[in-house]
Amino acid sequence: MVLKNKLNITQSSELARVEEKMTKQKAKELYDSGDIELAEVGTFKGLAYIHEYLFQDIYDFTGKIRDVNISKGGFRFAPVMYLSASLDYIDKMPQSTFDEIVEKYVEMNVAHPFCEGNGRSTRIWLDLIFKQELHQVVDWSLIDKEDYLLAMERSPIRDIEIKYLLKGALTDAIDSREIYTKGIDQSYYYEGYTTYTIEELPDEDQS
Ligand SMILES: Nc1ncnc2c1ncn2[C@@H]1O[C@H](COP(=O)(O)OP(=O)(O)O)[C@@H](O)[C@H]1O
Ligand SMILES: [Mg+2]
Repeated sequence: MVLKNKLNITQSSELARVEEKMTKQKAKELYDSGDIELAEVGTFKGLAYIHEYLFQDIYDFTGKIRDVNISKGGFRFAPVMYLSASLDYIDKMPQSTFDEIVEKYVEMNVAHPFCEGNGRSTRIWLDLIFKQELHQVVDWSLIDKEDYLLAMERSPIRDIEIKYLLKGALTDAIDSREIYTKGIDQSYYYEGYTTYTIEELPDEDQS
């Protein structure tokens, strides 16, 4: 079953390809326009801004919390009934140390506020917290896909693995556009999107 989308695409492989192309262009625009600076750091509001920015041309539900329960690999994300309370709680979680930031990220993943696009938008959100609070960002190209996904699967019960992976990939190169673009490509690769690299795509308004 293909998620209902604004482009009326009914074939999952086509949706994946078009979604990758359009939203990677948006991710590039988010950075190059400086709009990324407008995202509130460490709140659901900031995450919703990023989600909407990336996915608004594809889905109706962008930036809005889901109204269905979802699970992955047998793990049930926050039930709809508690989602809004959970997001209020996460907003207030501290974010001044590395451990606090990762714990906040893990909670946001457990909340999984959107029907789709949580992984890709929450990794951008995480980097903004690291950047503001620690003056570092993650070099995602240093984190292997299988290691990452296993660590995230384990994170609700034990966050030591994701902490280890993220710690080993922090870099001081916070103003490097290349770290950002390579990070987006890696983030998409984690989710199975590997048709385009962000650099080979034309800017959004030229395509
Ligand atoms: N079994 C799991 N338990 C907890 N978190 C998971 C599990 N499987 C995947 N995840 C997290 O969910 C993210 C994928 O969520 P999803 O909404 O599909 O994002 P995207 O659309 O960007 O792929 C992964 O990147 C990972 O962080
Ligand atoms: Mg997905």
